[in-house]
Amino acid sequence: MKVLLYGSGAREHALALKILDSPLLEKLYLADTGAFCNTGEVIEFKDYFELAQKSGEKGVDLLVVGPEKPLGEGICDIFLKYGINTIGADSNWVRLESSKSFAKEFMQRNGIRTAKYFVLKNAGEIESTLKKFDSPPVIKADGLASGKGVVVPENFEEAKCAARDFLGGKFAQASERIILEERLFGQEISVFSLWDGKNLLTLPPSRDFKKLNEKAAAPNTGGMGAVFPINLNEYEKKWFECYLQKLKNALVNEKADFRGVVYSGLMVCKDGIYVLEYNMRFGDPETQALLCGLQNDILDIFSKMIEGRLDEVALKIADTPVYCVVLASSGYPAKPLRGMEIKNLEAAKKYGVEVLFAGVKKETSRDICGRERYFTNGGRVLSLVKSGFGAREDIYKAADEIMYEGKIFRRDIDF
Ligand code: AMP
Ligand code: GLY
Repeated sequence: MKVLLYGSGAREHALALKILDSPLLEKLYLADTGAFCNTGEVIEFKDYFELAQKSGEKGVDLLVVGPEKPLGEGICDIFLKYGINTIGADSNWVRLESSKSFAKEFMQRNGIRTAKYFVLKNAGEIESTLKKFDSPPVIKADGLASGKGVVVPENFEEAKCAARDFLGGKFAQASERIILEERLFGQEISVFSLWDGKNLLTLPPSRDFKKLNEKAAAPNTGGMGAVFPINLNEYEKKWFECYLQKLKNALVNEKADFRGVVYSGLMVCKDGIYVLEYNMRFGDPETQALLCGLQNDILDIFSKMIEGRLDEVALKIADTPVYCVVLASSGYPAKPLRGMEIKNLEAAKKYGVEVLFAGVKKETSRDICGRERYFTNGGRVLSLVKSGFGAREDIYKAADEIMYEGKIFRRDIDF
């Protein structure tokens, strides 16, 4: 297979390495790639049409899309028109991620448990809607807001301010409509299901650590670490199986004709499992941990997905825990420090820890010892991944020894 992988983060780096592992791979191409660009041949492009055309000329069989932005912009629709299969939904189904009201209606139509909610377009309705809640509701922008479109307020006043802010244009079009939603309490898990148009293949749950640090008031980030797999108890498992059956029935009933990932953000509560959100892609950083624990050939899975034969895949998951710790840059998530040289990356090798690049820029020149030079270039810089007993300690040893100005990371990434 000739595969084009789209995206520049640590999630895509992990996908690139996993794809390179596959005996089915003939050639890996990369688009809009990052500091791991040496893993394949880079295709430059002005727009998705040009990228699809060039991919066609090179004989690319499959497009794998990492981030939500190109998915939301309809990259898969364009590739499908050019006759290239995609792991990633078309723009119709991407709305499960890009419109929270679309996702909520999908859940309601299909009897999927989710928090009670109201959709608002008009600031005049805020006060009367707030009165319908016994405790302060969660305020959400309807559209994509780079992970910043959700406020979990402590009191009604805060809820009112957030709702006003959002409807007042905080996220432009993305917050023209907002959701007021009952707050749920429980443990969150991330669940990735692969959909082939008929079959739903679900990987074991993982957990990401969204807050910047251990403090309750810390800001939310794209994710500061992940662990995989999360074990559920018998009671939770029953709810989980029941949810997955409902999700499958919903996709079948609604004739969802795409090949891609359905990422369910679930809250495991005392009275069962609720859906908080859907994403239509692999999560970051959960994917870095998950791909380390997944022993199947990923291209075998992807090709069965394209052929509608996911029911033939037997998942093989390592029975040891996997940890992923994100090294970020100070100032993240608001304004991360950039341009600092990353030193002593070799420490990772010493401890058998895999280093995946996210906000990293690779210099063309080498240092006096002939080593490649890397600089920080974003909020989340590296993902450090290892599985097995003792893995967590090894990751933290590597995290302490890798050096750059402004390095920050959480020390509590654990099961
Ligand atoms: P979302 O983008 O909808 O997943 O929301 C981002 C984060 O906000 C979630 O990961 C939760 O931590 C929190 N959150 C969202 N909805 C709720 C809810 N109904 N109750 C409690 N926390 C929520
Ligand atoms: N880990 C959360 C996300 O990918 O959105």
